[in-house]
Amino acid sequence: MPSLAVIGSQWGDEGKGKIIDYLDEEADLIVRFQGGNNAGHTIVVGDKVFKLHGLPSGVVRPGKLAVIGNGTVVNIEELLQEIEQVESVGGSIEGLRISDRAALIMNYHKKLDGAEEKYRGNKPVGTTKKGIGPAYQDKIARIGFRAGDLLEEDTLKEKISLLIPYKKDLMNMLGAEGCSCTNESLLEKMTGWGEKIGKYICDTGVLINEALDEGKKVMLEGAQGAMLDIDHGTYPYVTSSSTVGGGICSGSGIAPNRLTGCLGVVKAYTTRVGEGPFVTELHGEEEEILQKKGGEFGVTTGRGRRCGWLDLVVVNHAKTLCGFTSLAITKLDVLNDYETLPVCTEYEIDGKRTKYFPGSIKNLEKAKPIYTELKGWKGWDDTEALVKGGYDALPDEMKTYIEFIEKNTGVPADLISVGADRDQTINRKADWWN
Ligand code: GDP
Ligand code: IMO
Ligand code: MG
Repeated sequence: MPSLAVIGSQWGDEGKGKIIDYLDEEADLIVRFQGGNNAGHTIVVGDKVFKLHGLPSGVVRPGKLAVIGNGTVVNIEELLQEIEQVESVGGSIEGLRISDRAALIMNYHKKLDGAEEKYRGNKPVGTTKKGIGPAYQDKIARIGFRAGDLLEEDTLKEKISLLIPYKKDLMNMLGAEGCSCTNESLLEKMTGWGEKIGKYICDTGVLINEALDEGKKVMLEGAQGAMLDIDHGTYPYVTSSSTVGGGICSGSGIAPNRLTGCLGVVKAYTTRVGEGPFVTELHGEEEEILQKKGGEFGVTTGRGRRCGWLDLVVVNHAKTLCGFTSLAITKLDVLNDYETLPVCTEYEIDGKRTKYFPGSIKNLEKAKPIYTELKGWKGWDDTEALVKGGYDALPDEMKTYIEFIEKNTGVPADLISVGADRDQTINRKADWWN
């Protein structure tokens, strides 16, 4: 019953999509277990580029089951658009399955997302405005729609008549742009969604557990990153789901003893989109250079990503929360041509050193990074040659950088990524499923 989870160890955009795609050739199922279309996972295969938001990365390789698990939030209208887009570049949704328990993102959630951001005044979260927070709020408040409701007209009618007056009042109160729908028009729209998407809706918990019983290989695709976790991230500058190890089980319906491997994806430097503290952040020209070299612009919102040096306090926090058994280090090629590469191993807060990530935002804002300066590598921009030579042929300084990460986390760097393409990857582990 092998399973392999892939989780971002920073604030998202670590290259999870690329790594999942590289490893899922042998997988039978690829399961998204949390988050929604706030995610933007890029997969590059030759001249084809897939930008996935709500769909699991499994849609890139025909023949896989691509499962949207119960812990996710799904915007059906945007999912239908994404399906069209993915099919137009050669993806296949034959294997798509959507959990009957997945929460739905409604139009009013998007509007409320914008209104709530305004209410936060000069301290917005910087959300993707996809309605993620309001949809999870409704799930927890037990007043949300679930995908399975689309198959039951009576349930839809009941929920619509209860919810719509309430949501309209709420939007008025918050000054959100109003919603012109009536109970009847919404029922018609949602019944239409059911007709289009109903054949994909099922009990995905049963599907995944039976697959594991049969010895099939299940990949669990994390979205966002550990530092955006609702409990363990930089609250309140986080997303609204459990992005760490615990979220895998509750969001897919499998028990903890069925998890056999967890790969942490570590970008060789750090980025973050949206607001919130970022201890190793660069500013001005230094940040611009790294942003440009790394192409650090959001897949979902197009916003420029904030950039900074690698922070191992962050990666170790993620390791503790996810139990990483391997690391994939991505975007090492972007660090080509730096004289020195600072790596943060501890914070200093009020004159005291700590290697643990603080819970208080106020403390985090005061934290100063303690850096170890490692030597950079120069002139290694031929990624084809880098991959061809394998790990041993990598520049010595790059190996020292990788080994510094291994030593400071205690986790082997089993995958090394030096380019966006599937082929620009060095694999140091013979069997990922044992
Ligand atoms: P995700 O959200 O974690 O899947 O990551 P994104 O797709 O949002 O952002 C990662 C970006 O870096 C994408 O444009 C990838 O195509 C690209 N990428 C992934 N790995 C590498 C790498 O090793 N080198 C370079 N240069 N780009 C990479
Ligand atoms: P992937 O899967 C990077 C950030 C937003 C914002 C915060 C809350 O591509 O790594 P939300 O819309 O979720 O309520 O926004 O979380 N955020 C991401 N940042 N990568 C992502 O996904 C993100 N998904 C959400 O920018 O700061
Ligand atoms: Mg992304």
